[in-house]
Amino acid sequence: MHEGHKKVRAVWGSRLGVVLAAAGCAVGLGNFLRFPGIAVRNGGGAFMIPYFIAFILLALPLCWMEWTMGRFGGRDHHGSAPGVFDAVCGRKHAWAKYLGVLGITGSLGIFFFYVYVESWTLAYSVFSITGEYAANNNPEAMSKFLGAFLGGGKPFSLAILPAYFFFLITFACNFWVVWHGINKGIERFCKIAMPLLFVLGIVMVIRVFTLGTPVNPEWTVEQGLGFMWNPNFSALKSSKVWLEAAGQVFFSTSVGIGVLLTYATYMKSREDILLPSTTATVLNEFAEVILGGSIVIPAAFLFFGPQGTTQAVEGGTFGLAFTTTPLIFNYMAGGPVLGFCWFLLLFVAGATSSVSILQPAIAFLEEEFGFSRKRVILIVGAVTFFAAHLVIFGDGVLDEMDFWFNSFGLPLFGLIEALLFVFILGPSRGWEELHHGSPYRLPRLFKWIMVTVTPLFLFAILAGWLVTDGWKTLLMIKLVEGHYVSLYTANQMPWVIGTRLFALTLVIGTCVLVYIAWKRRAVAEKLHR
Ligand code: ALA
Repeated sequence: MHEGHKKVRAVWGSRLGVVLAAAGCAVGLGNFLRFPGIAVRNGGGAFMIPYFIAFILLALPLCWMEWTMGRFGGRDHHGSAPGVFDAVCGRKHAWAKYLGVLGITGSLGIFFFYVYVESWTLAYSVFSITGEYAANNNPEAMSKFLGAFLGGGKPFSLAILPAYFFFLITFACNFWVVWHGINKGIERFCKIAMPLLFVLGIVMVIRVFTLGTPVNPEWTVEQGLGFMWNPNFSALKSSKVWLEAAGQVFFSTSVGIGVLLTYATYMKSREDILLPSTTATVLNEFAEVILGGSIVIPAAFLFFGPQGTTQAVEGGTFGLAFTTTPLIFNYMAGGPVLGFCWFLLLFVAGATSSVSILQPAIAFLEEEFGFSRKRVILIVGAVTFFAAHLVIFGDGVLDEMDFWFNSFGLPLFGLIEALLFVFILGPSRGWEELHHGSPYRLPRLFKWIMVTVTPLFLFAILAGWLVTDGWKTLLMIKLVEGHYVSLYTANQMPWVIGTRLFALTLVIGTCVLVYIAWKRRAVAEKLHR
């Protein structure tokens, strides 16, 4: 981005810059770490059908809607969802800006745990080169190694100090980049890191496919690929699988987080949004399905076997990648160096995403309150630093936040965006606005999908989940052998309740901030007149 001619707001420098920044914000830990875990947890081939359907019918259309509404709101100098919704909906629908709150809290909520997982990648890159995990040549040992690194189940013991140290470095790096502006940094980061990540990803896929059967002759790569790609229609009846598929595809493409909305506000009003948004999203899917899906899952089958792979994700969605990929490096010539590069690139890919995730909150405070960057960074830094500690020290907090802010929150915010696009902006106006400045035109079928299928489908997924599983999740119970038992252990319960209350406070608090910001603006406008 560079300063635009009006000096007030930044605009993107070049089309390549937009594509790279959007791809950088999309390609991240979701592709290589979360996707394999979620796919395994939801049955592999059973998951991939809802996943692809969610990509075509939900993520792509919503991505276009976000870019359309974002560029629209940017004209009024709004860089976050409350302002963008207010610009799109006008004075007649003053309530709309409050719906935009989820576009700030959702991204912040994801940052709370994202930054911690990102710090694991930095730690593992150091561990690769120092040979820290090299002696662990089986999955159990590697799981224990990860467990010990994360505090050995006793988060308040000194064992967590190394993890905490890497967290502090990662947290500082994120805010260092934000402090110095993401402008040139992000573009430079992405230009080098993205191609390197793709090349190394391909090397990893080749190594996994040529590993043979290192543990058990019956555990093969084909089994892993079969698990992923043999369609299984039984899970299509499960609304939770649909919700998790939508949540994953949104998380991975950065749709429903509010980030694309913010990025789009920095487009000039006549600039093409269709090509950059589509290119970045498709690149992201390549990284996720082809690379992400061909490394961790087949490797997990080789080392853990079918049953062990399923059990491995029970301890946490992100863990699977950290227990399998180091094993691959242990079986590779030059493993320590390649491991170092791989985890470092993941760290960079994660950082380009996490820095982008902070942008909606930063844009909100800077633009709606006129705060200085220093003040904004202090506020956002304090909130995220506090919340990240819940994740680090709390039992079960990471998965709880992941579920509410991500699997549930993103589809919910996506539904809100779709409804505003259809009912307030209007199908024809929205469609024309999307194509404004673009030499390309989408097939008209997509207009129908955007205005009919996307909102209805999202509504069905959320309602279906609420009726079948959602109420149990809300009440924190599950059915085991005909009896309802607690979903969480006694240790986890206070943390989980605390997390939910914190999330609620964050949403309500941000609504209050929106109220104050608009009140201040009304007063300022009155004085101006
Ligand atoms: N889209 C980002 C990722 O996949 C958040 O990591």
